[in-house]
Amino acid sequence: MALKEQQRGGFTSRMGFILAAAGSAIGLGNIWRFPYTAGENGGAAFILVYLIFVVFLCLPALFAELAIGRATGKSPVGAFKALAPESLWKFVGGLGVFTGFAILAFYSVVAGWVLGYLGKALAGHFSAGMDIATSSEQFTALITSKGLSIGLTGGFLLLTALVVRGGIQGGIERASKILMPIFFVLLVGLAIRSVTLEGASAGLYFLFAVDLSKLTIPVVAGALGQAFFSLSLGMGAMITYGSYVGKEARLPGAAVAVAFFDTLIAMLAGLIIFPALFAKGGGAQVTGGEGLVFTVLPTIFHELPAGFLFAVAFYVLLGIAALTSTISLLEVVVSYFVDEQGWTRERSTWVVSFACFLLSIPSATNVSFLALQNTIFGKYALSIGALLISLFVGWKWGVRPALAEIEGGRPMPFGRLWAFLIRYVCPLAIVVVIVAVILGIST
Ligand code: PHE
Repeated sequence: MALKEQQRGGFTSRMGFILAAAGSAIGLGNIWRFPYTAGENGGAAFILVYLIFVVFLCLPALFAELAIGRATGKSPVGAFKALAPESLWKFVGGLGVFTGFAILAFYSVVAGWVLGYLGKALAGHFSAGMDIATSSEQFTALITSKGLSIGLTGGFLLLTALVVRGGIQGGIERASKILMPIFFVLLVGLAIRSVTLEGASAGLYFLFAVDLSKLTIPVVAGALGQAFFSLSLGMGAMITYGSYVGKEARLPGAAVAVAFFDTLIAMLAGLIIFPALFAKGGGAQVTGGEGLVFTVLPTIFHELPAGFLFAVAFYVLLGIAALTSTISLLEVVVSYFVDEQGWTRERSTWVVSFACFLLSIPSATNVSFLALQNTIFGKYALSIGALLISLFVGWKWGVRPALAEIEGGRPMPFGRLWAFLIRYVCPLAIVVVIVAVILGIST
């Protein structure tokens, strides 16, 4: 293997790639961001639009990013340079690198909260249970302890940096092959407990009874951003992961599997949070924002068998799910400096992580700042990134070479549909939503 390849590494198997891509996709976006965003946007109608976006926009966009990555074997900036030399398209890669950096800066704050909750679980805090109001106070106490919040954020970034620096992603992937199924079982357990609580039906109603009159432009824009965020799209994470996949791996099946599990886990999170929230009389807090998941869970752990262990295991596994996502965010930025600026992986990792830590401080100390960063980068920058990537594949690089890359000699069933979606539907849908937001149309 040439030195250059050794520096970049690669997945040794298709399974390794699926695990890494699923690891990137599944994280706080599913467990933390999806429920509170659904809560703020009225529930069922939001979820319906979200599902439509996953199938008709995100899945095509996921194919497109993987194709760009595998065709070029490069991270975002280099990939656009390779496919469209001497053009401005490389700035789309640059936007992605910056967006990844900015997302990491608030994502690691929330991951820090998970570490804080792990500490609480270990201290037996949830063993006796508590009501929504007490739980909510405890959340506020954690996020307003500025020193603690900064420390936990830094701790999580350090963990991420250690993995990315050492290039031991392989180990993490193999571990998540065992750990994520366990996480899944815990989530199913929590969901069953939650929906069988007395009074849970109001939560189910909120989740499933679609009221189309709630479908406003802000709700649609929220669903759009959430769908891209949850699938790690619009900033080049999947381009980067695609660049590590061998030519022989079949992409379409892998992409569908990743999107399916990511969506399933988000739905499970909804099934855990809303029935429990309403059953515990916290229905009024449904629009309460960033604290939703952290507030609801401590009220139900004690009602599960082995509640103490359950809570500890839950936060450990959620932390690992978050880690496999922060790894992918950091990897995009680090590989930019390695591939394009000639830095060593070591230097790139430490410089980027430290800079990210500095940028995370405003979010770690002020939840409104976190919310702002989340909206600008987690919602709009990703939507715009996905728009530009779909325009690039549909109109500049071309659907033919992209499709050939995706198919790898084995024609896939919906090839023409994919080409239509990526050329017309993705760009138009995103433009319509963004223009409507800019014009301030609210219904
Ligand atoms: N998809 C990740 C999650 O849901 C977050 C993420 C967004 C990761 C963008 C990489 C890129 O938690």
